[in-house]
This record gives sequence, structure tokens and C-alpha cells, in this order.
Amino acid sequence: DWTMGAYREEAIAKIREQVGTEKVICGLSGGVDSSVAAVLIHEAIGEQLTCVFVDHGLLRLGEGEEVVRLFRDHYNIPLVHVQAQDMFIDALEGVDDPEVKRKTIGRLFIDVFDAEAKKLGGAGFLAQGTLYPDVIESVSFSGGPSVTIKSHHNVGGLPERMNMKLVEPLRELFKDEVRLLGKELGLPESFVGRHPFPGPGLAIRCPGMITREKLEALRKADAIYLDEIRQAGLYDTIWQAFAVILPVKTVGVMGDGRTYDHVCALRAVTSIDGMTADFYPFEMAFLGRVATRIINEVKGINRVTYDITSKPPGTIEWE
Ligand code: XMP
Repeated sequence: DWTMGAYREEAIAKIREQVGTEKVICGLSGGVDSSVAAVLIHEAIGEQLTCVFVDHGLLRLGEGEEVVRLFRDHYNIPLVHVQAQDMFIDALEGVDDPEVKRKTIGRLFIDVFDAEAKKLGGAGFLAQGTLYPDVIESVSFSGGPSVTIKSHHNVGGLPERMNMKLVEPLRELFKDEVRLLGKELGLPESFVGRHPFPGPGLAIRCPGMITREKLEALRKADAIYLDEIRQAGLYDTIWQAFAVILPVKTVGVMGDGRTYDHVCALRAVTSIDGMTADFYPFEMAFLGRVATRIINEVKGINRVTYDITSKPPGTIEWE
């Protein structure tokens, strides 16, 4: 695509001009946006860039390994893999307010980036894969009144105590354009086509209090759901699909016994840019199959529901 080819050259020139000879840290989330930003910045400034991938204990099954493999083995881009699971999960203990969750996670991300920058002997810039819709939605919604719907952890500037400035080379792009740019940069199709995944990760798919047990069940249910979606050949038709674990327990029966376990909600939407979305009309047989597998295979879940809310009035994520 020649348009993206031109964008790429322009973006590279801008990054070089902004950064000069300083070091840059790029936070990777495992999603498409931060990956594309990292590869683009690496093209622009090479070894001045260090990527930091924080495992906050809120990733999906196998996600950490996939990201590390892509960056270290495929691209040979220097990558620091920070194991910060306990730090994040401990800080989130007892927190059930969605905005407090988001802000807690955002603050800890900054702490980690700060610490990594110090280890490098200082870095002048922090790079993020912020997109245009992230910028808009943190300020207003659909042209409506200026109300913050959600604090995206990667928008809104940096705390003053941090001395890094921001590099956000995707700030003018929509998701479909980022995917084109990713292809242009040679990212594997399988990676470019990945569903979006929010920076706060599974924390915002676990309404109410977060516990390690709930996260564990959520991770398994989510993997089963996505496995079935892939097997049905539906992955690329859907903008985003994921499981949510609810803070509600219900009574069930399994074999001869009574169960009292959590409810899991399944979400799948189609969308062009994430700003509006329609729930995906699965066949009932498909949903039944997924529900049976989740209840049989995941300890701690005994009921499954399907979310049929579109956006608006719902948002895609539950928090
Ligand atoms: P909502 O839930 O607001 O989500 O309809 C719209 C899109 O944005 C993703 N999302 C985030 N991405 N940091 C991110 O990088 C965040 O804090 C965040 N919150 C939501 C969401 O997954 C969906 O694709």
C-alpha cells in the first residue's frame, strides 16, 4: 500500500527529529498497537530503543511467551521482560472500582518504566501505541458532552515526577490503518490480525474484587472461547471476543452434587474502529458448545451467559 509506505517514511523522519540521540523506552502490551509502534521506532532509531514488556499477571494464557518470541527471535529488538505479577495483583487487592483499577495499573506501569529507564542510565522518551480513538474516548464520547468514559492507562500525559517525554507515532491513526502499517512493516499476518487487548488486561474483565483464583478461571475460560472461535473460522470476522468473570456466584448441579461457583459472561463484537460496536450473532449451537466446555473444563465457573449489548449504550469492555 503506497499510502502507508509514505506514512511510514514520514513517521520515521518525525521520530528521528523528535528523539535526536536520546534513548527511548517502548512499553509493549502484547497488542497490535504497541507492537507496530515499537517496530516503527526501531526502524527509525535502531539501538536507541529498548522495549519493555511488563507481565502484570493480567495477561491471557500464553501471551507473555508469544510477545517475547516475536520481538526477541523474529525482530531481534532488545526486550526487557519484567515479571511484576505480584506487585500488580497485590496493589489491586481490595480494589473494585473500575477507575481506581485503571489508575492503579497506570501508575504501576509508570513506576516500572521509570525503574527500567534508570537501569539504562536514563531515557529521554517513553513510546506508546496510543491511537486516535484512545485520544478521543478519554476526552469525550461520540461528539457528546466532554465526559471521561474510561481512563485509558496510556493516555493523559505522564506524572511530573517522571522525566520522560512521550513518543506516540500512531496518535493520528485508526485501528485498520495501524494494521496496514503493521503489514507494511512486515509484522506477521497472525500478529497484525490479533484482536485488540486493553493495557489494564484481565483486571477490567474481572468486575468486583480481583483474586488470583478468579484470574486463573478467567484465563482458562477465555482460552477455550477463543479456541472455539478459531476452530469455527470466525476469528477474523470478529473485532474482539473475550470472557468476563462475574463477581456473582450461582447454584448449579454437577453429577450428584451441588455447585456454587462464578458466572462467566462471553462477549464478542464487530466494529470498524472500536468507537461503536454490534454484538456478534453466534449460532446458539456454537454458544452451547462453548458453555459446555467452559463449565466442564474450568474449575470455579458453573454458568455461562452471552452479552447481547451493542456500543453504545454498552462499552466493549465491561469496566
Ligand atoms: P471500550 O470498552 O471503551 O473499548 O468500548 C474500546 C476499545 O479500547 C480498548 N480499551 C483499551 N485499550 N488501554 C488500551 O490500550 C485501555 O485502558 C483500554 N480500555 C479499553 C478495548 O479493548 C476496545 O478495543
